[in-house]
Amino acid sequence: MFDKNFEIEYINKKISKCEKCSLHLSRNTTVPGEGNINSPIVFVGEGPGADEDATGHPFVGKAGQFLEKMLVNWSKLKKSDVYITNIVKCRPPKNRVPTTEEIKLCTPFLESQLIILKPKIIVALGSTSLKYFGINKKITAARGHFFDWKGNIKIFATFHPSYLIRNQSMEKNSPTWYASFDMKAIGWMYKAFNSGKTADEIVKVINERMKASGGV
Ligand code: URA
Repeated sequence: MFDKNFEIEYINKKISKCEKCSLHLSRNTTVPGEGNINSPIVFVGEGPGADEDATGHPFVGKAGQFLEKMLVNWSKLKKSDVYITNIVKCRPPKNRVPTTEEIKLCTPFLESQLIILKPKIIVALGSTSLKYFGINKKITAARGHFFDWKGNIKIFATFHPSYLIRNQSMEKNSPTWYASFDMKAIGWMYKAFNSGKTADEIVKVINERMKASGGV
């Protein structure tokens, strides 16, 4: 029988032993991802930072705390309601952007996780994640919008929380002001899936709401 938890644990064990790229040399621990394996929404960030590398948990440092605050305040969700992972599973030194080679070597793990988790919507946090999902747009243009990926999955783009903590103004048209629309939309999506709506119905409603409210 297909046991999601077992399958995810199996991948995560493989991640913990990975030595495919040089990031394994400087890591303290791998950060495979965690959260609700049955969530219709999976968040994908860039890669672990220092706090994540020290603990093995994704988004537990300053960016993670800000993400949690946004989820609680605007999405009315907890971090543990969704599954959260990253493009690369080991911390790039000094938090640099992972290289194309590191991404190429690491993302078969993400692909396996996504095959097991079967999310309906992937929230791409920031430009590294956005680029990985084949969206060649600036995050400022892509955010608040959906994109198709692999036929049946929708990518919803929003800002990376590390970027937002450096730009916390809630002034109209500021990044965090826009992020509040994205986070409210994510909360609505989550509830709509749980009440049986399809991804296409959800995308249609969110697109209409985003336009009507000035969120895009
Ligand atoms: N930034 C990320 O992209 N991922 C984390 O897990 C933490 C910070």
